[in-house]
Amino acid sequence: MELQISSRVCQNLLITVALLICFSGIFYTYYQPNITWLKWPTVSRSNSCSEICISALKMPNQTEMVNNTCVVNIISIRNLLTQTEAVTQTDPDTILLIWMWPFGAKFDLGRCSSLFNIHGCRLTDNRSQFNNSHGVLFHHRNIREDDMPTLPRPLFQKWIWMNMESPSNSAPHSTLNNLFNLTATYRQDSDIMVPYGRISEKTGGSTTYKIPHKNKFVCWIVSNWSSKYKRSQYYENLNQHISIETYGHSVSRPVSKKDYLDLVSSCKFYLSFENSIHKDYITEKLYNPLKLGTVPVVLGPPRKNYEELIPGNAFIHVDDFSSPKELAEHLKLLDQNESLYRQYFTWREHFVASSTYFGLEHACWACDHIRRYKNYRVVRDLNSWYWG
Ligand SMILES: *[C@@H]1O[C@H](CO)[C@@H](O)[C@H](O)[C@H]1NC(C)=O
Ligand SMILES: *[C@@H]1O[C@H](CO)[C@@H](O)[C@H](O)[C@H]1NC(C)=O
Ligand SMILES: *[C@@H]1O[C@H](CO)[C@@H](O)[C@H](O)[C@H]1NC(C)=O
Ligand SMILES: *[C@@H]1O[C@H](CO)[C@@H](O)[C@H](O)[C@H]1NC(C)=O
Ligand SMILES: *[C@@H]1O[C@H](CO)[C@@H](O)[C@H](O)[C@H]1NC(C)=O
Ligand SMILES: *[C@@H]1O[C@H](CO)[C@@H](O)[C@H](O)[C@H]1NC(C)=O
Ligand SMILES: *[C@@H]1O[C@H](CO)[C@@H](O)[C@H](O)[C@H]1NC(C)=O
Repeated sequence: MELQISSRVCQNLLITVALLICFSGIFYTYYQPNITWLKWPTVSRSNSCSEICISALKMPNQTEMVNNTCVVNIISIRNLLTQTEAVTQTDPDTILLIWMWPFGAKFDLGRCSSLFNIHGCRLTDNRSQFNNSHGVLFHHRNIREDDMPTLPRPLFQKWIWMNMESPSNSAPHSTLNNLFNLTATYRQDSDIMVPYGRISEKTGGSTTYKIPHKNKFVCWIVSNWSSKYKRSQYYENLNQHISIETYGHSVSRPVSKKDYLDLVSSCKFYLSFENSIHKDYITEKLYNPLKLGTVPVVLGPPRKNYEELIPGNAFIHVDDFSSPKELAEHLKLLDQNESLYRQYFTWREHFVASSTYFGLEHACWACDHIRRYKNYRVVRDLNSWYWG
């Protein structure tokens, strides 16, 4: 019972198929065809179609007469419809309102897609967009009670609390509880975790790493000296055994931004001593020397915590030694033995260190999070979560 069908009729069949597909979302959502070509012997009618459908119909090359049977390239039509469907389903952009600039420092709002490949997010600092915003970002240090939104919160809107300061360096606030829906901090248990830096695999495969020229042994730049810091005591003790090149305001040897890169990369070791010790509080003091080709000597949370974020052979931990004197001896050994020193660079064949974008990443990733996860959430006791 072969049908004699002309190619014009065949094209009409194509239209019919597309129409059917148009009106049976279930069909193309759940139907996973194993065959590319669908034989279509019967004709049905339908009389309305969306723009999307109509554009699908403008592709005459999607039908073929094979052995007098009209054959429709179902996959290509399905793909076309799914693509367009994705676009129509994509609600308009997710809007994230930056309520205040973190520390007053502005950043470019248009870079979520180019830097992080995050699409469908629109950042704004225009407070008149409050009613339309899916998320509102608040930076802890800049929160003031008399500067919070006064309009009612739209039901779909999520408020994000951002803080990159450690609990020691920031203060709890009685009004913070039951106010936010998401947290964006350096902590791994944040909803949106933004560390101070990252180690990523090199994109073009492994390459050898050339260690920058070194003419200094151990360096430290310290902007805020306080004898009550654990790091200060450790430094003083260490300095009795080896000589440390110390810079920064506190020792009247300030380093300009321009000189910073050259200075840090010319040191064999850099003291990445955190000012306060908290889980996950691992800052640019670590990531900068990693970026600049220097071996960091870290003082902060336990080694195990560092190893969750960076390779174990990328740094030296003060806890690896029973005393500053013992650490000093190890550093001297590495200073004299090139091949031992080089072992701290092997990870660089495969990985590269980078800093994160302060504020911008929080905003982009928060927006992405809100776009992806629709679940309801309230951060109840923020104060005891962060400072408890
Ligand atoms: C069919 O035609 C459209 C343009 O009308 C073109 O984009 C598409 O690549 C063609 N497909 C094939 C399989 O030739
Ligand atoms: C067309 O018909 C011939 C002869 O009946 C058969 O051998 C061939 O496989 C058919 N082609 C297709 C694509 O069905
Ligand atoms: C802020 O948004 C409002 C409302 O959409 C608009 O009228 C206004 O022009 C915007 N302001 C700026 C500076 O873009
Ligand atoms: C925002 O929505 C509230 C109602 O929830 C309304 O009273 C207010 O006028 C709206 N504001 C703007 C600027 O659209
Ligand atoms: C320096 O450290 C002290 C002690 O922790 C602190 O009170 C002070 O605010 C810090 N100063 C700066 C400029 O960070
Ligand atoms: C450096 O240390 C390695 C491993 O301990 C040892 O085999 C090598 O002989 C040392 N090289 C020098 C120059 O001391
Ligand atoms: C966000 O948190 C607030 C404050 O607890 C709550 O009233 C609101 O319903 C939450 N909204 C969403 C979308 O999670």
